[in-house]
Amino acid sequence: MLYNTTPDSLFVPQSSVVDPLGYGKVALVTGCGSGIGLAVTQLLLAHQFQVCGLDVVEFDYNLVREADHGRFHFHRGDLVAPGVCEEGVRICVATYGPRIDVLVNVAGVMDNFSSADGVSDQVWDRVMAVNLTAPVKMMRSVIPFMRPKRSGVIINVASTAAISGAVAGIAYTSSKHGLIGATKNVAWRFRNDGIRCNAVLPGAIDSSIGKMIHEGKRSSEAGGAYDEEAYAEVQPVHALQTRPSTATPSITPLEVAKSILFLISDQARTINGVSLPVDEAWGVI
Ligand SMILES: NC(=O)c1ccc[n+]([C@@H]2O[C@H](COP(=O)([O-])OP(=O)(O)OC[C@H]3O[C@@H](n4cnc5c(N)ncnc54)[C@H](O)[C@@H]3O)[C@@H](O)[C@H]2O)c1
Repeated sequence: MLYNTTPDSLFVPQSSVVDPLGYGKVALVTGCGSGIGLAVTQLLLAHQFQVCGLDVVEFDYNLVREADHGRFHFHRGDLVAPGVCEEGVRICVATYGPRIDVLVNVAGVMDNFSSADGVSDQVWDRVMAVNLTAPVKMMRSVIPFMRPKRSGVIINVASTAAISGAVAGIAYTSSKHGLIGATKNVAWRFRNDGIRCNAVLPGAIDSSIGKMIHEGKRSSEAGGAYDEEAYAEVQPVHALQTRPSTATPSITPLEVAKSILFLISDQARTINGVSLPVDEAWGVI
């Protein structure tokens, strides 16, 4: 289904006019296959960007409007595997030419809420590799295309867990805190090269990760059953954001995508190095 977050579906601009936001520009999106990454992909395509999407699972082209197919290229790969981040950038350049205007690092995995006394090597390594190492490798690979043009925008999708120790396990929390550090470092280092780097910090989102937590699924895609003792400590904090009357989190992937689009746009020209919560004030607790 297209734009399945219906309250926002009216964002689709007229395709008959040139959209200065995206026309002629190239964006690379990781984790494009579902949730926030899919919404970002759909929104960028609607604004006439050419999009190269990367994901570890096969992409369902029915999720992209037929009219946008010519401006969308998908490459399948596990960003954790050696050389895959670099390969994704190479494929983007081979498809659209030697320019990358935007990188949105969305791909991420949740942990199993395990703590410092019990986190397995498998969970720690996988979560750090997907959530922190891959985004840094993606930034390393695109910056050489942005510096010569003296323009480029990078958005890293972090989490409330990037500023709170009370909403996830140690691996996810550390990976997202680390991603904020990487965001700030890139923002400062390349501020005079016309490159901006910002992060968004979603709260619980109505996506597969958000639903998994909300519906109490008791295992993580990074491996391992939930650490129930640790989960019992974070669950009351999660309950402060979710509304008892709703079956799923109330923030949609498209709402996160819209905040990303704002940071990409020239309206955010002076905004660099920030961590923008998209969480209905959850992060202020
Ligand atoms: N859902 C939430 O409640 C929530 C809250 C805060 C932050 N986030 C963050 O938002 C981002 C997107 O999450 P989502 O909720 O849309 O989840 P999602 O599971 O719907 O989407 C994540 C996508 O990343 C892809 N992916 C995972 N590992 C990959 C790998 N190794 N290589 C390539 N692709 C890979 C998945 O296949 C999937 O398509 C993540 O970074 C997540 O940490 C999510």
